[in-house]
Amino acid sequence: DDAKKEIIKNSIRGVPNFPKPGILFWDVTTIMLNPKAFKYTIDLFVERYKDKQIDVVAGFEARGLIFGAPLALELGAAFVPLRKPGKLPGEKIFEEYKTEYSTDKIEMHLGSILPGQRVVLVDDLIATGGTLAAGINLVKKAGGVVVEAACVIELPFLKGREKIPDTPLFVLVEKEGL
Ligand code: PRP
Ligand code: MG
Repeated sequence: DDAKKEIIKNSIRGVPNFPKPGILFWDVTTIMLNPKAFKYTIDLFVERYKDKQIDVVAGFEARGLIFGAPLALELGAAFVPLRKPGKLPGEKIFEEYKTEYSTDKIEMHLGSILPGQRVVLVDDLIATGGTLAAGINLVKKAGGVVVEAACVIELPFLKGREKIPDTPLFVLVEKEGL
């Protein structure tokens, strides 16, 4: 697993001064360019959740969808997208949150998670933890049981874990900021 994590870590590109001066952006598109690194990422998540009776994988638009959907398929679980405002056609519930860069909102279709279903939330990266905290609230509003949150990358210096004190967080790679 450590060898797999090393390959994943080395496949993540750091782009300085994006989207704003002073921000070092960790770019996961370079994981997907390397099929081995992409597969190892999904493998490690599957390994972690295959025996945890997961009913639903919930993935955050946009980059959490990339890792969440293949995980759901491998687990034989449902996949639920947590989307940015105005994209979902059905009846929905929402939650507002703060990111590194702005205030934002995520929406989820009503009825896509049923009371008592066991849910793992997936995103590419935890920074301040605002996105995950909002997703956790959404899942709980629907009556879902939040088993864990899984991210490819954690930025420990931003202490995002402190925003989700009641939810275990599983990460593959830790990165520093500037
Ligand atoms: C990024 C990243 C996480 C979130 C982490 O998404 O993909 O979802 O920020 O930040 P936080 O822990 O401080 O909330 P973003 O909304 O920037 O864009 P995306 O649509 O490309 O995923
Ligand atoms: Mg995102």
